[in-house]
Amino acid sequence: MDVSGWDIPKKSMIGIPWKVAFEMQQRGWTLRSSIIWNRCNAFVEPTARDRPYRQYEFVFMFSKTRFYSFDRSKLVEEDVWNIPIERNRRAKHNAAFPSELVRRCIEVGSPPNGHVLDPFVGSGTTALTAIANHRNVVGIDMSNDYIDYGQGAIEGEGYESSSWKDLTKRLQKPSALWDGWAGNRQNFRKPGTAGKTKKE
Ligand SMILES: C[S@@+](CC[C@H](N)C(=O)[O-])C[C@H]1O[C@@H](n2cnc3c(N)ncnc32)[C@H](O)[C@@H]1O
Repeated sequence: MDVSGWDIPKKSMIGIPWKVAFEMQQRGWTLRSSIIWNRCNAFVEPTARDRPYRQYEFVFMFSKTRFYSFDRSKLVEEDVWNIPIERNRRAKHNAAFPSELVRRCIEVGSPPNGHVLDPFVGSGTTALTAIANHRNVVGIDMSNDYIDYGQGAIEGEGYESSSWKDLTKRLQKPSALWDGWAGNRQNFRKPGTAGKTKKE
């Protein structure tokens, strides 16, 4: 940072992603993994000539409980994900995620026909990727322009948006495929409990 006030030398990194992660922990979330997204074809930073250019971002994996849903069979790499950025794919937003990054998070962490929430949906990469992978999705954005754009993109692909009333009704029921999904927490056991009856 170039402005003093934090009592650290100018030009210091301040670790915003980790500050957010630790704050999430303070608010009751369990931090399970910090994944490196290696943007293999990253843009260079024209303003940073006196340090290595930044080529990675963090993806933090949180859970709300100790035992949760996780489908390891969909994890194509462990905690370093090599995924190129998708240039010019959605000209409307200059910070769109690559769909492969989103696809991994969705497939590992939610059952087919389950529900995905993106509170910063932007141009709708998460929404479109979730739908393409047979999940329901709720997208939120402070910008009406992005909401209109995202809704247009979804409807342009031939999918329907739900009314709030329908949505809340559907969210009350778990997916019919939940019990059979390999990532269901019922399919995991605590270490040392092999052969014992599973308890919730
Ligand atoms: C980096 S963009 C997300 C891009 C998105 N992942 C994509 O692939 O297009 C962040 C989005 O969050 C929205 N946003 C920022 N602060 C917000 C807030 N407090 N509540 C809701 N949306 C917010 C912005 O309008 C912006 O569209």
